[in-house]
Parts: sequence; structure tokens; C-alpha cells
Amino acid sequence: MIRNEIIGAIRKVVRRDIHLEFPENFQHGDYSTNAAMQFGLDAKKIVLKLSKDKKLSKIVSKIEIAGPGFINFFLSKKTLYDNLNMINLEKLKYGKSGIGKDKTVVVEYSSPNIAKRFSIGHLRSTIVGQALYNFYKVIGYKVIGDNHLGDWGTQFGVLLRQFTIYNLQFTDLTIDKLEDLYVRFNKSAKENPKLWEEARAWFAKLEKGDPEARKIWTEIRKLSLEEFDEIYSKLGVKIDHEHGESFYEDKIDSIVKELRNKGISIKSQGAEIIEFSDHPPAMIIKSDGTSTYFTRDLAQVKFRLDEYRPSKIIYEVGADQTLHFRQLFSAVGKLGWGKDVEFVHIPHGLIQLESGKMSTRAGKTIKLSEVLDKAIKKASELGAKTGPLAEKVGIGAIKWNDLKREPKTGFTFNWDEILNMQGNSGPYMQYTYARAKSVLRKTKIALKTVPYSISLTTEEEVILRYLSRFPEILVNAADNYSPNLLCEYLFALAGAYNAFYNKHKIIGDPNEAGRIALTKATVQVIKNGLLILGINVPERM
Ligand code: ARG
Repeated sequence: MIRNEIIGAIRKVVRRDIHLEFPENFQHGDYSTNAAMQFGLDAKKIVLKLSKDKKLSKIVSKIEIAGPGFINFFLSKKTLYDNLNMINLEKLKYGKSGIGKDKTVVVEYSSPNIAKRFSIGHLRSTIVGQALYNFYKVIGYKVIGDNHLGDWGTQFGVLLRQFTIYNLQFTDLTIDKLEDLYVRFNKSAKENPKLWEEARAWFAKLEKGDPEARKIWTEIRKLSLEEFDEIYSKLGVKIDHEHGESFYEDKIDSIVKELRNKGISIKSQGAEIIEFSDHPPAMIIKSDGTSTYFTRDLAQVKFRLDEYRPSKIIYEVGADQTLHFRQLFSAVGKLGWGKDVEFVHIPHGLIQLESGKMSTRAGKTIKLSEVLDKAIKKASELGAKTGPLAEKVGIGAIKWNDLKREPKTGFTFNWDEILNMQGNSGPYMQYTYARAKSVLRKTKIALKTVPYSISLTTEEEVILRYLSRFPEILVNAADNYSPNLLCEYLFALAGAYNAFYNKHKIIGDPNEAGRIALTKATVQVIKNGLLILGINVPERM
């Protein structure tokens, strides 16, 4: 990567670990370092030494001191053109790197709860998680995706109780009906809290392997997974494993034993808990002897460590579970597991609909499938087109709208924003792509390597400078768990290309060959970027 070459050259002179940033805008160059200020060195002397570096002088055409001692680097035309030609050679491979070579990362994402509708509450985890998965893949990690389904716990006690009380049959079961059962239970339990004891007793039966309870649970699980698969295929999401909470059922006892043997858990009012110095305690075993969400999470950590030997485990889960993950990671620390493994919770903010937030307990959930269908319908209204194109645009719009912001920020669904063809939206990105593709269909010139002798307009130069950044943006986005960094970049690149397109002729220009090469490379980078974000590109729009 270009960055590493420049960093190497500066380190040779400064002999210290330095930072190289992208300046706010291209007027300050392509890269900038504050090394002189940071280490109290003379920027002029550094620049003088750097200017004698032969290798560096091929990469950059200008090194400049700015402000209180920033050193700015401007890429040479040779670097920019070499990179352009490389993009057109590498095509889909452009951007890939081997930074994660021989390392494994586990990404846990989506993780909806069975027997409930797939609500928009799990949309962010699904979309952001899939993007993070893709980022780590392109930078060379072995990536394991796991969907930690909520398919175990007291809530199934509720369902089992309802199921038997109302004497229901499987044949006409739907998720909607199951959700109704919850809602009705919650209403009754408000007046009669004793019902919770019944529900807990049913869950205890399930955990002990009661055949009737197992049978009902198995059917409900099957029904839910069918619904989830439909959503995943609509979203184009594929998750390697579905080790839900129930998968850890037989792995809990040994965890509890280890906690006791190591003196980490203690008895408290009939239950068993872990105390922390800086968080409230976490419950390991309830007083009725059943396991908890927390215990199953400990089992999940142990399993992943043993099975995959990862260097990192990423949990893409809502911000409302921040405390849970702090407790979990501290407990893992107490157990002494995975000492050199990095555990990361990427909390995402809540999506709200204009009508307010939704929850199953209140009995008001928004069905994700309805939201997706609406997006597809609205996309078809945009261009009066239906079928696969409307799907690409509708689903792409939902994804971009989510990925363009930092995962931790929440937002309200706003259809005008989501589908705005002029703004920072999925359809805008896809349209930019499709329009550039149509230019490529018009030219009669075969793609050639572009010689350096050709002069560049300002607009072309800006595009070239953006293009050179792509591989580094991917690394930054992965390092910071921020797909939004790639969105910002792609949006800026699209803007730069559109500015060029609006001002200059491509077909029939004396430099048609150069401009076609530039268009081709831009199209390639937008495509590679959108695919990493999980967004499809339409060839025509
Ligand atoms: N099923 C949970 C929920 O919907 C999310 C699971 C998060 N992952 C975990 N390892 N606890 O709230």
C-alpha cells in the first residue's frame, strides 16, 4: 500500500512510530503527518532529508510544510496512473489485502429471537454485522459468522404454558399467533404475577428434556427459522453458523463447575451469581435451577475460543446490551480464558419508525418483511420499474441508509431520505454506477494502459486521488468497525465522478482512452465497495 511506503520513508528519518493521516481536503495533499510537532523536531530538516529519498520522490511529487509543522505529501502523477492501471487489471481484487493473514475473527450478528417476528430491531445487527464480516474477509482474515439465535430461555416457558393451556395444534401455527400468545400472557401476568412461576416451571421442564416440551419447542423453532431464512434471502445475507443459545445447553454444566472451582461464582438467595467490582452482579443460575442468558453466553465464548482459536470475537448487538457485554467480558477475564483474544461489542443505536419505538412486550412490533416490501414497492415507483431491479434498489436503499451512519447512532426511518436520488442514498450510488456503466457501453475504444504523458483536468485528478485510497479505507473501516467510513468515501468518489461527468466530454474527447480508463476504474471501485457493503449494483437503471 502507498501509505506504508510513505510511513517507511518518514520512519527512516524520524526513527519513531509516526501517524499518517488523510488531510481534510486534497489542497493539503494526499497524506499528512504531525510527526514534527509530536516529537518536537524541525519540520524543515525532516523535509530536506525526505526530499533526498529516491524511492519516495517517485511516489510523491511534492512535500510541503503547512500550519504549525504538518508535513503534507502529494502523490505523483506516476503513482496515480500506476494505481489507475492497476485497478483495471485487478478488477474485483482491487482493495483486497493480506493484513489478516493466518488470523481468525468470529463475527456474531443478527441473532434474532425465535417465536417472534423478525422485527426491525434486528435489522441493524444483520446489516452492519454482515458488512463487518465482509470487511474482515477482504483484508485477509479467516472469518467465521455466527448467528446467536435466541432460542432458549424463560420466554419459551411462557410459550409452552400458553400452548398447553390453550391446547393449540401445530398445523395452523404462525409467528403472528405465537406473538399473540406472548401478548396475552403479559396482559394476564400483569394482574396475576404467579403466572410467571408457571412459565418458569415450563422452562425448567424444557431444560430437563421433557418430551412434550421438546416437541413443541422444536416445531416452533423450525417455523421461525423458515421465516428468518426468507428474510435473509431477501436481504442477501448468509451467516455461516446458527449456533443458537440452545446449542450450548449441554455445555453449561462444565462452565458452572469451572466458575465454582475457581471461586468466581457465589450463592445468593438461592441463586448463583458473579459479582464485579465495577458492575452490578450477573446471574448464573436462577433459584429454580435454570440457566440464564449470561451462562449461555459464557458457554458460547468458551466454544468459540476452543473451536476457532480466533484472535478477535466481534459482537454486533444493540447498545441496550452494553452492560451485559461488559459483565460478560469481565467474567471471561476472571476465568482467565482467551488471554490474548480481543473481545469487542459493537453496539448499534436503535431504529425508530416515525410512530415511535417498538417492543414485543407492548405488543407492537414492526414486521421487517413488511418494511422490506415497502422499500421494494417505493423503489419501483422511483423508476416505474419492477422485478429484480426494484429489489436491488429497494434493499440497497435500506442497507445504505443504515450503513452510512456510525453504528452507534440511532435514527428514524425516513423514506424520503432513504430513496433520495440526489442525496446520500443507495439509489444515488447505484444510479451513479449505472450511468458510468452506460458510458462504457458507448465507447468503441478498447481499454489500454494510460500513459503518464496525458495531462489531467482538476476533476480527473481528484478522482484519481480518491481511487488510490480505496484499499486503505477498507482497512480503516475494519479497524474501526465502521462501515460508514466506506460509505463516506464512496459517496465522495461518486460526487467527484459526477462533477467530472457533468463538466467534461468523455466519448469523442481527444483523451477518450484516458477518460474511459478512469470511468472504468471508478465503476470498479464503486462496485467493489458496494458489494463489500452487501449492496447490489444494477447495470442499468
Ligand atoms: N437474541 C438477543 C436479542 O435479540 C441478541 C443476542 C446477542 N448475542 C449474545 N451473544 N448475547 O436481544
